[in-house]
Amino acid sequence: MESPAAITIAERLLGTSAAMVELRATIERVAPHRTTVLISGESGTGKELVARAIHDASPRHAMRFVAINCAAIAPTLLESELFGHIRGAFTDAQRDRAGLFEEADGGTIFLDEIGEIPTALQAKLLRVLQESEVRRVGATVSTRIDVRVVAATLRDLTADVASGRFREDLFYRLNVVPIEVPALRERSSDIPLLAKHFAIRQSAKHQRAIAWEPQALELLQALSWPGNVRELENLVERATVLVEGGHISADFVRTLIGTKNLPVVGRTIDEDQFSIKKATRVLEEGLIRKALSATAGNRTNAAKLLEISHRALLYKIKEYGIARSDNLDK
Ligand SMILES: Nc1ncnc2c1ncn2[C@@H]1O[C@H](COP(=O)(O)OP(=O)(O)OP(=O)(O)O)[C@@H](O)[C@H]1O
Ligand SMILES: [Mg+2]
Repeated sequence: MESPAAITIAERLLGTSAAMVELRATIERVAPHRTTVLISGESGTGKELVARAIHDASPRHAMRFVAINCAAIAPTLLESELFGHIRGAFTDAQRDRAGLFEEADGGTIFLDEIGEIPTALQAKLLRVLQESEVRRVGATVSTRIDVRVVAATLRDLTADVASGRFREDLFYRLNVVPIEVPALRERSSDIPLLAKHFAIRQSAKHQRAIAWEPQALELLQALSWPGNVRELENLVERATVLVEGGHISADFVRTLIGTKNLPVVGRTIDEDQFSIKKATRVLEEGLIRKALSATAGNRTNAAKLLEISHRALLYKIKEYGIARSDNLDK
């Protein structure tokens, strides 16, 4: 693999839309400083890629970039994961262990889904950020660390601050430089470029040459992409594997997406149109139906596409009342 420094931000974060040009410029401006950055954006827009780009363009690029998804770790384990623990701090703590902050010393820590951090831990995180010191769980002394913090959130943190779910002081400490990654539908001019880029990558991966017909690219630009760039990437992989003859037509894209799954965003949410919660559910259900349809109802593969656990998928299928037969007719 190439060393991170050899890959420029522009090469990683593709797009010629005004929004992407501005995003890359912001990254280059903010990268050299140690300021905390809070990245927001819908699922699959490229938040983690932005975080890595900031690290790679910073003077810390030779040091570690440590990423942690705060939503994926049980709240009770999160503190020890972030700050470490000493032997005997709790039942399973058989030896001293450094946390991710210490591992990232000199480099960057990426706190993904920061909105999921439990309130008690929010206070401790704030102290770490303010004092540049971490204290392992159970320890009596702190260790100085030099870590650049980049955080990301899917949630609207200002709403969480207003509702008391997220500490205001921590929010301001994190939100020194806010970066919003725009949804793919807001920069649809980037879609053909991304589709071609992913096609080259997938062609190499699956040893199959594929080419886009112009109408297919036009159709891609008209779709709403609730799963953003990741969803596009998945669609290209599916197309590469399933297409016969190597040419991807608009009709073929339609069969891949499944007509009844097309209007995810077009669906009305009526009087609840301002509820992020309800809109997220509509979006989630649509994505799950789409994934099940794309995998002919195979739940293991669908969970992989959705990047959730098999268990979480089963739970959601039940919750949304999705019948097996719903997904088998493409
Ligand atoms: N501008 C871009 N150019 C090329 N690839 C991109 C771009 N944006 C996103 N990607 C790719 O799309 C996928 C999703 O990106 P990433 O994981 O950074 O998104 P995310 O916002 O962190 O998603 P989530 O909210 O689901 O965690 C990755 O494979 C990434 O490489
Ligand atoms: Mg992410």
